[in-house]
Amino acid sequence: MSVSTSPTPQFIDLFESRLHSLLEGTPAEQRGSKLLLEASRHLATAGAAKRMRPLLVDHFGEAVDLPSGVRLAIATAAELIHTASLLHDDVVDNGTERRGRPTVNAQWYNSVAVLGGDLLLCFSLEQLSELPRPVTATAVELVAEMTRAAMEEVQVRRARRWALDDWKRVAHGKTGALLGWCGAAPALCVDQPVLAKRFAQCGHHLGLAFQLTDDLCELLGLQRGKDAYADLRNANPSYPVALARSNSPHIRSALDEMWDQGLASDAQLQQMAARIIDSGAANMTLERIEDHIDNALQALGDFAERPGGAHIAQWANQLRQMASEATEEL
Ligand code: IPE
Ligand code: MG
Repeated sequence: MSVSTSPTPQFIDLFESRLHSLLEGTPAEQRGSKLLLEASRHLATAGAAKRMRPLLVDHFGEAVDLPSGVRLAIATAAELIHTASLLHDDVVDNGTERRGRPTVNAQWYNSVAVLGGDLLLCFSLEQLSELPRPVTATAVELVAEMTRAAMEEVQVRRARRWALDDWKRVAHGKTGALLGWCGAAPALCVDQPVLAKRFAQCGHHLGLAFQLTDDLCELLGLQRGKDAYADLRNANPSYPVALARSNSPHIRSALDEMWDQGLASDAQLQQMAARIIDSGAANMTLERIEDHIDNALQALGDFAERPGGAHIAQWANQLRQMASEATEEL
């Protein structure tokens, strides 16, 4: 799906060149790193990457008057943490396509993706070494939280009988926590812990709205550059699916049967998605997206009318618009 913050070309150019030079390596690079850097570049510099997290960092940073060098360091760390999580996620999920390209595990092999992800996590923490201690401490806690959520997602998927509460815990750790950190870190840099909590709330709600929209688009077959119906095929926790499971015993048992049998056909998946949409789950997901966007804007408060904050509000409203357009035809 594609949501973009309004362009801040200078920042994004600086960000891209910093990321490229970081992943280029030096001639003196050690044996082993050449392949890991090549694989990391394959994903990290793919044109389809939206750079949503770096742009949000730039806007939250502008809202607290953070110098652009510091914004760049936090933005690079956020994008590297995100990229590392994608490398690992595609191994865990056996993903074959990401950002319109073969995944690293598909193009090379699992070990390259696992170790490449580890290397990127180290690079991300190095970005923060000059910043105040709470920024590093919260980044470490964030990676731990994302790791726990990824493990929980695997357990939930294996057990298959998941419900809305399971979805919430996974989505919080998988998507909400990182966007929350994108809000908190700039405020922590200017020693404003109370504001950091507010911005974390804002980012967190944006993250949940974004994850819900991602789940919704997958169910509606609107995802591009990723495996179609991957969540439904793999029994991955998805909000509209969890909703349909809790509202309709018929859908729940049909899903359980499909997952127990394994290897559903494309036609079967499409039919199941249509049944879930017909149950009203897609429209109810849109309502939840709107609630989270309202909550994000409330946390932003009067920053929404100020430099930086205005871009965040605009981004939130674009996401709202995109989700509502996706469900228009239903
Ligand atoms: C994908 O994130 C993973 C989710 C949390 C839904 P993005 O949709 O931001 O992925 P890129 O960075 O633009 O590829
Ligand atoms: Mg996944």
